[in-house]
Amino acid sequence: MDVPVVARTRAELQDALAEGEAESSVVMTMGALHDGHAALIRHARALVGDTGHVIVTIFVNPLQFAEGEDFDRYPRAFENDLNICAAEGVDLVFAPTRAEMYPGGDARVTVDPGPLGRELEGAARPTHFAGVLTVVAKLLNLTVPAYAVFGEKDYQQLTLVRRMADDLEMPYEIVGAPTVREADGLALSSRNRYLSADERAIAAALSEALAKGAEAGHLGREAVLRDAVAVLERHTELLVDYLVLRTPDLASDAASGESRLLVAARIGSTRLLDNIAVDLGRATSG
Ligand code: PAF
Repeated sequence: MDVPVVARTRAELQDALAEGEAESSVVMTMGALHDGHAALIRHARALVGDTGHVIVTIFVNPLQFAEGEDFDRYPRAFENDLNICAAEGVDLVFAPTRAEMYPGGDARVTVDPGPLGRELEGAARPTHFAGVLTVVAKLLNLTVPAYAVFGEKDYQQLTLVRRMADDLEMPYEIVGAPTVREADGLALSSRNRYLSADERAIAAALSEALAKGAEAGHLGREAVLRDAVAVLERHTELLVDYLVLRTPDLASDAASGESRLLVAARIGSTRLLDNIAVDLGRATSG
């Protein structure tokens, strides 16, 4: 098991990148790696093959956290992250400091995510996606990969990163990878470790609601939402922020064909997100 090269600075990163001409793929993370990240890394490897280069970035990006959010308590586990990267055959880990990423102390120029950045997660966290897109743009331009792999778990983030790459003519292919789930359906997330045992048991209701909704796809939009709500309503401890059925690009509500059902809910002080593909066929009513 080879230990990946670790670059802490831009200069070290550039040195490491200059060593080879191989096609590369990047997986961007905030650390606290779990099996979901390992699956993204495997996806990244499959895209470039054994001769390619897989890069993982580890950086808890302050710009995407607002005052009072969990930036300070966000889990940090660098040694364990490195072990996972080594086990998954990662070639290079870029783990910059805050000063390295934002030399002036803060970002002077940021990426405006546009109207979709103010909806759904953006309505609850108004500065979040500007922070995400800004750091993703910087990390893309620093690592210069052929592919960047993002999990479908954060579906709105994946959609906005795709839109940014398209709109700003970025020459990187943005690739979505399926969500990895626990046996009871809970989507893997670094924030799951905030849940108490009781909260953890309730959290599975999110994926159950999505699965029930998706099963009703052939019956139409209203049936999907009704069946998903029925599951969520059984759990009064879940404070649902939104449950929406949108077109795959999240631009508008879906009425037929391929669509995406997205949910966000709070359990105690933990906010959880999940989503699922739904086929509405040619259905137009419930
Ligand atoms: O999904 C995440 O972990 C973060 O939002 C990302 C893409 C690494 C940017 O900080």
